[in-house]
Amino acid sequence: ATHTIVTIVGSLRKESFSLKLANALAKLAPASLKLDVTTLESISFFNQDLEANPPADWLAFREKLQKSNGVLFVTPEYNRSIPGVLKNAIDVASRPYGKSSFLGKPIGIVGNAPGALGGVSAVKHLQNILPGIAGPILGQPEIYLNGIGDAFDDKGQLTKESVQKLLQQYLDAFAAFIEKQNR
Ligand code: FNR
Repeated sequence: ATHTIVTIVGSLRKESFSLKLANALAKLAPASLKLDVTTLESISFFNQDLEANPPADWLAFREKLQKSNGVLFVTPEYNRSIPGVLKNAIDVASRPYGKSSFLGKPIGIVGNAPGALGGVSAVKHLQNILPGIAGPILGQPEIYLNGIGDAFDDKGQLTKESVQKLLQQYLDAFAAFIEKQNR
């Protein structure tokens, strides 16, 4: 069976390396996984005042997650944490209290950065945020793609072989994890 994976991009930037990575992952994914690359520009700011009458964009995002077989985060690091837009989307999906749309969903996290540390602090923060509101997180293998700035050609295609190899390895492990969690 094909498993649908909501693949959440943590950057709104048009030329985002995270977005390009998400697209590369979608292409490289085995037939058992359908990666639905999802950007966050349509998600309005979380505000508890709106909870009684939630905006349509919140409801659509929550429903997409609920219908999925898992979630893959592809995110950069902003100031040693996750970008605010990503935290906002997680806050939106976590509500109503006790009814998180991530509940039971197996989670993968792909860190990346043009710099040397590959987004490791952002990944570690996600690993702190998610356990109370989501399913199990794939902890092995870890993936922190450093020096991501030279991995793509000017059409946004992934050309760096070392990165392709790491993505393939991660996808193999993630596919097995998703298979097991959806049995
Ligand atoms: C950054 N960047 C960054 N990089 C990093 O490795 N660690 C960090 O803490 C930060 N902090 C940070 C804060 C802010 C506000 C910005 C705008 C940027 C650099 C960041 O990794 C780089 O801009 C990436 O290209 C952003 O990811 P996308 O948009 O390419 O996916």
